[in-house]
Amino acid sequence: METKNLFASRSLCEISDFTIDERKYLFRQVRTLKKAIHDRDEATMDRFRVKDPDFGIYEVFLEDSTRTKESFRNAADFLQVKVNELNTTVSSLNKGESFADTFHTLTGYHNCIFIIRSKVEGLCRWLKDDCDAYAHRNGLPYRPAFVNAGDGRHEHPTQELLDEFTILEDNGFDYDNLHIALVGDLFHGRTVHSKADGLKLFSHVKVDLIAPDELQMPDNYRIKMEENGFEVRSFDSIESYLAQGEISTMWYFTRPQLERMGEQVLQKADMLRASITFRKEFMDKLKPGTKFYHPLPRHKLHPTIPTFLDNTPLNAWERQSINGMYVRICLLSLIAGQTGFDYVPPKQVAVGEEEDYIVEVDLSKHPVKEKMVSEGVHPIKNGIVIDHICRGDSPSDIRDHMRLISRVLHLDEAKGGEWVSCGHKAGEEHTYKGIIFRPDARELERKDLKRLAAVAPGCTLNIIKDGKVAGKYRLHMPPRIYNFDDLQCSNEACISNPAECEGVPAMFYRTEDNLFECAYCGRTHTFKEIWKNAK
Ligand code: CP
Repeated sequence: METKNLFASRSLCEISDFTIDERKYLFRQVRTLKKAIHDRDEATMDRFRVKDPDFGIYEVFLEDSTRTKESFRNAADFLQVKVNELNTTVSSLNKGESFADTFHTLTGYHNCIFIIRSKVEGLCRWLKDDCDAYAHRNGLPYRPAFVNAGDGRHEHPTQELLDEFTILEDNGFDYDNLHIALVGDLFHGRTVHSKADGLKLFSHVKVDLIAPDELQMPDNYRIKMEENGFEVRSFDSIESYLAQGEISTMWYFTRPQLERMGEQVLQKADMLRASITFRKEFMDKLKPGTKFYHPLPRHKLHPTIPTFLDNTPLNAWERQSINGMYVRICLLSLIAGQTGFDYVPPKQVAVGEEEDYIVEVDLSKHPVKEKMVSEGVHPIKNGIVIDHICRGDSPSDIRDHMRLISRVLHLDEAKGGEWVSCGHKAGEEHTYKGIIFRPDARELERKDLKRLAAVAPGCTLNIIKDGKVAGKYRLHMPPRIYNFDDLQCSNEACISNPAECEGVPAMFYRTEDNLFECAYCGRTHTFKEIWKNAK
């Protein structure tokens, strides 16, 4: 019986695209390969090699790179496959061609793995589905895979893999506990953003964030870390970190990307750099066995790890960089389907059907009080009443949101009104809710109910006919919101934002804490924030 290779043609757009168990398997491969290369064990090295001059790996770097681009290129050479690079200074992207058309073209030329660095966040996620459809409709005998080599401020998942591998080498491959300090530009650094999910690899994680306010970790990544069960602490400088008792033995530095910041911040550049740059006088405070990591590059004038530390046992960043090629050889070999046949995933918990978030109330079992149709501005004979809108919010927030609901449901032209009602039980605070009345409104279709659930989760829709409630629906928060042309991710750098002009439809997934995460760039929003021109 042929074994299915679960890694073949897989994309890696975010670190969580590979499960923890899959990453552990990858790291076993990397250990084997690294040893084989050091021992010149040709037979073992050969097991990784694809040895197919028609198997195309294509590098598209729309931002500068040395390590990522060159380690992937050398990894592809090692695998003995065809490797190409798009010359982005003379490509038709500069004539206004879309990403979709560019990558369709390259997919058609027998390229199976794309490695892309771009400032556009979520680009690989979008291309994966879009080029899959292209390959299918053109009858191509392969499906292209996409590897994110860094997208804007979002993620750098292959850097995360080599960081994890290097940390594991230093802690004896202990997946149980990790205490790590992240130092530097945590605001812009995509390598530290990948750690919010990446470090779930370890069972117990403590993360110390060391950066002044201007460079601190964005809230969404910090919240994600906390949701993932990490203990998170913040410090505004290395000095203040060293003044307390629990100092990590693993320090992960990043480069301040001050060039991305405004004039006001640049005026404080020296002060910002000083707070995240290691100094000689700090040496005595470090614990024995401490290691420093850095994704590199270091700035030649202002390195956060000064060069006098290069020749000390603190230096783990050079091995980290070298590991980049080993990790990338193994990753490409898996995606090429050369290795990975022996991987057996842990037993999956069955995933249920998509929950039904539109619930029709059985009126024969739950008769409606007649008060419903006569309450409000005017009694309604025929039409709709949307009740329980934004229950618990302030009256002004409810009013604002009812305007958005009317717009999203195209009810703003219809006659009727909105009303904020105040309910109170003895001894309790007032609770407000919104009610929208639309006499003689058109019939709502299933798609309208989906829109209503998305824009007003928790509401109740009453359909009034001949002065009676003829239908009633309770609308809960959908697990996924997509397929509406008035959705928009608030991140201007996201591939789905109209600012990118690619026409990629926005799509959001509900998180555990009832926020909506963009399917491409991962930015989280409340259900009120995912609509075009929302406040
Ligand atoms: N760490 C890293 O991504 O380096 P490059 O920018 O040189 O690829």
